[in-house]
Amino acid sequence: MTSAPSPRHGGHDLVSTDVDEAVRRLRLGGLVAIPTETVYGLGADIAVPGAVERIFETKGRPRGHPLIIHVADVDIARRYGVFNHTAAALASTCWPGPITLLVPRTEEVPDAVTGGRDTVGIRVPAHDLTADVLRRHGGAIAAPSANRFGEVSPTNAAHVVTDLGALLDPHTDLILDGGASTIGVESSIVDTTCDPPQLLRPGAITTDDIDQLVGRVADPSGPSRAAGMMAAHYAPACIVLAVDQPDDVDPIDFSAPGVRILDLRADVVAAARDLYTHLRAADTDGITTLVIVMPAPHGLGHAVRDRVMKAAGGRQQPHG
Ligand code: TXA
Ligand code: MG
Repeated sequence: MTSAPSPRHGGHDLVSTDVDEAVRRLRLGGLVAIPTETVYGLGADIAVPGAVERIFETKGRPRGHPLIIHVADVDIARRYGVFNHTAAALASTCWPGPITLLVPRTEEVPDAVTGGRDTVGIRVPAHDLTADVLRRHGGAIAAPSANRFGEVSPTNAAHVVTDLGALLDPHTDLILDGGASTIGVESSIVDTTCDPPQLLRPGAITTDDIDQLVGRVADPSGPSRAAGMMAAHYAPACIVLAVDQPDDVDPIDFSAPGVRILDLRADVVAAARDLYTHLRAADTDGITTLVIVMPAPHGLGHAVRDRVMKAAGGRQQPHG
């Protein structure tokens, strides 16, 4: 790998596998889409003035809406957050991995990242390319999912090109291509500042996993703190009907044009991994109504059901 832009592409190609170039562009204040095991993130160096602001502009995300930061390891994380016993236990067992810990922030974290909150969300992602970027960079990269606000998260580089390609500047920005995300749904978010800790967003690290590690985890209470908690999010353009059984939906002609049924009950790992590709395909295939039969509410099934319900705008079809 070279730190100079590849002459073959004239340096203007947006999609690349060049880690050195990704680090260089981040340090210069560019936006770099980073692959992770959950979804792709739209990254910016939190130490470069103005870089984080471009994330909000590019995503169309309301300012004040907090971003999570990505770091190479727990030691670096401690520069940005204060880890109590619960946070330290979760970090040491689950990182690198699909869990974001909300901890009190230090002065190293600018207001633009947390929206002025006194907590910051931190994660050490488990993806070789991005781990390399973070190690070489040595600091913190703020990265929300690399999609337009409220829409479906990207799980490969082509999704990022579709969503943001026209909004990124090929001279300053980059999409680091690390293949398809292996998990496919966003990280679990745990607020470690309350007792017991609260699971704000379900993910591949489940309530049971967290229970076993730190004793007890509660469902969220109090005012909504994560966008993942808003009723409608992760939504495609088509109508999504979320059901537990195919016949839970009112008489609907499944053979009608524009209607598709997506049964996610057989394999929950594949359901999570492929969910956003299915949602995106429904739109590009001209589907108007997508009926999704959800996996059972166990383990990773909770995260899949959460995202399907959000895609459905918070509505589950009643039984019967
Ligand atoms: O898997 C993931 O977490 C991906 C990859 C790229 O790491 N990132 C991701 O970021 O899903 P985003 O911004 O799309 O979702 C993070 C959620 C948002 O709903 C945000 O409101 C919430 O975390 N959040 C971040 N910092 C917070 C804070 N200090 N307090 C409360 N909620 C916070
Ligand atoms: Mg998101």
